[in-house]
Amino acid sequence: MDISTTTREQREHISETFFPGTGESYDRVVAKTTLGLDRRWKDAMMASLDPEAGRILDLACGTGIVLNRLHQRCPKAALVGVDITEDYLAIARTRFEGSDIDLTLKHTNAEDMQLEGTFDAVVSSYIPKYVDPDIIFERIAPHVHSGTRLAFHDFAHPRGFIPRQIWKGWMRGLKWFGPRIWPTWKVVFDENLEELIRTSRWRRTYIESLERHGWTDIQRTNLHWRTACLITARRP
Ligand SMILES: C[S@@+](CC[C@H](N)C(=O)[O-])C[C@H]1O[C@@H](n2cnc3c(N)ncnc32)[C@H](O)[C@@H]1O
Repeated sequence: MDISTTTREQREHISETFFPGTGESYDRVVAKTTLGLDRRWKDAMMASLDPEAGRILDLACGTGIVLNRLHQRCPKAALVGVDITEDYLAIARTRFEGSDIDLTLKHTNAEDMQLEGTFDAVVSSYIPKYVDPDIIFERIAPHVHSGTRLAFHDFAHPRGFIPRQIWKGWMRGLKWFGPRIWPTWKVVFDENLEELIRTSRWRRTYIESLERHGWTDIQRTNLHWRTACLITARRP
């Protein structure tokens, strides 16, 4: 599925059926279902950022896993997190209660977000397959400056016969045991996360959109047998 050929209603339908009601177990589920690789993928994203960054935007911040990593990597940064799912944001608010983090959370579809000021970095774990990149890059254009870094990461469909067979087996297994262990996730496994990942052309679509929107130093890094991919870029 090429995200840029979907309608807004289709995109919103996916986000609104997948996530509500799963916030409480999200951190455990993402760690277990990726066999701990989620942490490694976020390590790669963090390594691409300047520790001196002063202001960072995290799209689809969810329960705040990336915000927490950003606070460790860039301790001086003021962070803005955007997410469409209120129960995920509620977990993020609890996570940072009493912390010294400079954090603003916005409950909105990233395609509609209203931003203020400029950002030294714009990051996201897992938003690419849910939003239209042209809309996102137009939204952030007035809020970036020369040198702003971008780092987006998401799942990918691995290449090669053996990695694909292993991936397919794991996804089948998840479909069977996932809802039995985490019943609130039934809709995610039933609504076919596997198909969304397998058919998503997000890497190509995002790179083309970044080029159209004037980003440079665009780099694509495949991670762990291409089960995930990190795209980084810089504002000239
Ligand atoms: C798999 S979670 C990732 C959360 C977080 N980035 C992380 O890595 O832990 C995907 C997140 O994307 C959010 N999301 C999906 N579509 C969105 C949209 N159109 N605008 C903003 N957030 C969206 C969901 O609410 C959910 O919190």
